[in-house]
Amino acid sequence: MNIILLGPPGAGKGTQAHRLVAERDMVQLSTGDMLRAARTSGTEMGKQVAAVMDRGDLVTDEIVIGLIAEQLDTNTSGNGFIFDGFPRTLAQADALGDLLDRKGQHLHAVVEMKVDDEALVSRITGRFTCSECGAVYHDVTKQPAKEGECDNCGSHDFTRRADDNEESLRTRLMAYYRDTSPLIGYYYAKGQLKRIDGLGEIDEVAARVSSALA
Ligand code: AP5
Repeated sequence: MNIILLGPPGAGKGTQAHRLVAERDMVQLSTGDMLRAARTSGTEMGKQVAAVMDRGDLVTDEIVIGLIAEQLDTNTSGNGFIFDGFPRTLAQADALGDLLDRKGQHLHAVVEMKVDDEALVSRITGRFTCSECGAVYHDVTKQPAKEGECDNCGSHDFTRRADDNEESLRTRLMAYYRDTSPLIGYYYAKGQLKRIDGLGEIDEVAARVSSALA
């Protein structure tokens, strides 16, 4: 099963993708994570995209389509892909369709997670991540069971993203409404869109994702 999790910054795409990986042995392909890894490892491409990401603007289609194409070629295990944060433009959506066609695969569903802007601001400004395993937490809604220690890997090292501030979030939201929201109509017209309420407890949202995929 190949699915897209579609939604604005902070909608909970990464959180729900991690659950699907654990519960269904799917493979998460997050272009945001791939770009952050490129920055950390200091590749030429990582240096090119750093300022763009910190501002909250979109990286070029060419770069992100290249990253996804590479992953589709090299990743052969798991029960399908979860596309998290990709596609974000109509050009990326067309490219994904072509890449899957070439592999004789198709998309099963596009789950749009709807969350109002006010909730997004508090989710983004309270987010922190385990530096070791990438587990995602929140100052209020999802703290580690033992303060300062990652539930998943036991690390004591946490980070906050450079673009998780109100100014970058405004730019990210504008990019979402301008470039990414047209994908809602695009996938609706293809009969692949499932819309769910992304507000509520993480478990409640996970149950809605599961129903959408049933
Ligand atoms: P990316 O990393 O994809 O960021 P994003 O889309 O802005 O999404 P986020 O990761 O911020 O949010 P999320 O929906 O995953 O929420 P999460 O689960 O973490 O992209 C970053 C940048 O990279 C872009 O701005 C762009 O520059 C570039 N980029 C990436 N892909 C690109 C592409 N395809 N094309 C061009 N450029 C690209 O949850 C957020 C917080 O809320 C967490 O703290 C979590 O614990 C909490 N939370 C989650 N669910 C709930 C809930 N139900 N209730 C309460 N709290 C919750």
